[in-house]
Formats: sequence, structure tokens, C-alpha cells
Amino acid sequence: MRLRDDVDRILIPEDVLQARIAELAAEINVTYTDEDRLLLVCVLKGAFMFLADLMRHLEIRHEVDFMEISSYGTGTVSSGVVRILLDLAQNIEDRHVLIVEDIVDSGRTLDYITRNLHTRGPASLRVCTLLSKPSRREVEISTDFVGFEVPDEFVIGYGLDFAEEYRNLPFIGVLKSEVYTGS
Ligand code: PRP
Repeated sequence: MRLRDDVDRILIPEDVLQARIAELAAEINVTYTDEDRLLLVCVLKGAFMFLADLMRHLEIRHEVDFMEISSYGTGTVSSGVVRILLDLAQNIEDRHVLIVEDIVDSGRTLDYITRNLHTRGPASLRVCTLLSKPSRREVEISTDFVGFEVPDEFVIGYGLDFAEEYRNLPFIGVLKSEVYTGS
């Protein structure tokens, strides 16, 4: 059985995704200047593909760094437990920081990251997320650049996984419920 057979339907096709990413980059290009020495903080693993495509459209000088956060247990709902698995290599004091996320769901991960990074004294801290699921929000967080609002469905692809699979799909799809319920 092929990976794509587990996809119920495509929610955001590749061309729509890529066009919106170019728009987000255009917004970022006019928000910062070269002098800001923008630091993109990619939240692994889900955001790696979004980061790579977003960066290709950036015209301002910037650097990248990575953080890995674990917010989920093995299930499909947030455990509310957030842990840093990999921390930034750089000191962000007085730096202009833009967090790059794939999805904001309950908001717990982003709430943790933003509060954590604020304590390190950045010059500015903004958030760019490809997807947002506002219906699932448990913690109010502010987002500066949002690609798409998505309904409360199990979305995979373009970096987003179920049990570490499906990240390679070039679109955002909805997973067939029998895949994650096991029925
Ligand atoms: C996902 C996603 C966000 C977070 C959003 O990461 O990449 O970081 O969950 O959920 P929240 O708003 O409810 O906190 P996940 O922990 O699945 O790790 P991954 O990116 O490595 O797949």
C-alpha cells in the first residue's frame, strides 16, 4: 500500500501552498531590514520543509538556527507536556528572532517557546506559522505571519507527520481516520 493511499483528501494543494509561502516571505521581506540580521528559529521537526521553501524567497540577510520541542506523547492529542529536545546553538540576546513553525494547535508549544526565548533578551520576537487550527486553541498566543487557518482535522504532509511518517508529501492532506484509529 502506498503512502498516498492513506490520504483521505488534499486540503491544500502544492501550488496553493507554494504561492502562499511566497506571499509570507514578501511580508517578512518588508518587515525586516538587512541591518536587523534576522535569525530564523525553525522548530523541528515539522517546520523543516516550510523553512527551506520560505528561505528561498527571502531577500533580506538572515541566519537560521534550530530547536526541537516535543509536545505530544504517542497519541494524536497534545499531552500538555513540552520538553526541549534540542536547543539553539546561538545566543539570541539583542537579536531579531522569527520563530518558524508548521502548525499552531493548542498553542502550548509556541507559548512555551516564546516565553522561553523572551527570557534570553532578544531585540524582537515574532512568529511565522504555516498553519493554525484556532478551534483547538487552549492557550492564547500571538502570531505575526499565518499561512492558512485549517479545520480541526488530522493534517499531514509538508513536514507534518503521523507516527513520523507522511512528512515527505508535498501538500497538506487529511489522514484517513482508520489510519490513526487503527480500525
Ligand atoms: C507539532 C507542531 C508544533 C506543535 C503544535 O509538533 O510541529 O510544534 O505540535 O501543537 P500545539 O500547538 O498543540 O503545541 P510535534 O510535537 O508533533 O513534533 P514534530 O514537529 O517533531 O512532528
